[in-house]
Amino acid sequence: MRLPPAGTIEVAPSILSADFGKLASEIAEVAAAGVKIVHLDVMDAHFVPNLTVGPPVIAKLRKHSDLVFDSHLMISEPARYVEAFAKAGVDHITFHIEVADDPDGMVARIRDLGCTAGITLNPETPVRAIEKVAPLCDMVLVMTVRPGFGGQQFMPEAARKIVDLRKIVGPDVRIEVDGGIDPDTAPIVVSYGADTLVAGNAIFGQPDRAAAIDAIRKACR
Ligand code: DX5
Ligand code: ZN
Repeated sequence: MRLPPAGTIEVAPSILSADFGKLASEIAEVAAAGVKIVHLDVMDAHFVPNLTVGPPVIAKLRKHSDLVFDSHLMISEPARYVEAFAKAGVDHITFHIEVADDPDGMVARIRDLGCTAGITLNPETPVRAIEKVAPLCDMVLVMTVRPGFGGQQFMPEAARKIVDLRKIVGPDVRIEVDGGIDPDTAPIVVSYGADTLVAGNAIFGQPDRAAAIDAIRKACR
């Protein structure tokens, strides 16, 4: 599965707010609502103070879903684990600039493993930290909360970095936003130039996931 080419608005539900006891059916539910991408939050209890899933769980989920697996590695040593995630069947790998020794090399390695590549930055990290590597990526992720937990409040100042990033990467690289995205904040980030909207609590925190996805889409029209 490949990321859709840039230019369309895509909602990417984040499993972080899903029921981890039945992840496959949770993912099937958002797939039935027409999303193309599912966002998999990987945490190591070191880069962030929380722990989620790793390659073994993702490999099992892969058998149950044809969605684009968008993995967001919130881990201290991404270089050590990218191969395991690629083998588990993720399609896209995003790593954090804060822990990247050789970001350009990492993008090349992710591509060699058959995946598309993404860089991301924490709310406190300035755009200039990724200005060189961002144009080399397929998708750039802007964090609008501090990574680690779902259901946090959207940080408007962090979102404004999208405007500068869009100028840097041009129209052909996706810009994804992660943190506090809901029908109120989604149109703001789309107006700044984002096209890929991660939402955890605003989708999996709602009883009717299809209606929740639709509400985000409609708010951006
Ligand atoms: C936060 C994760 C997000 C999270 C977003 O560390 O990277 O993907 O699930 O959750 P919401 O949409 O609830 O802010
Ligand atoms: Zn995420």
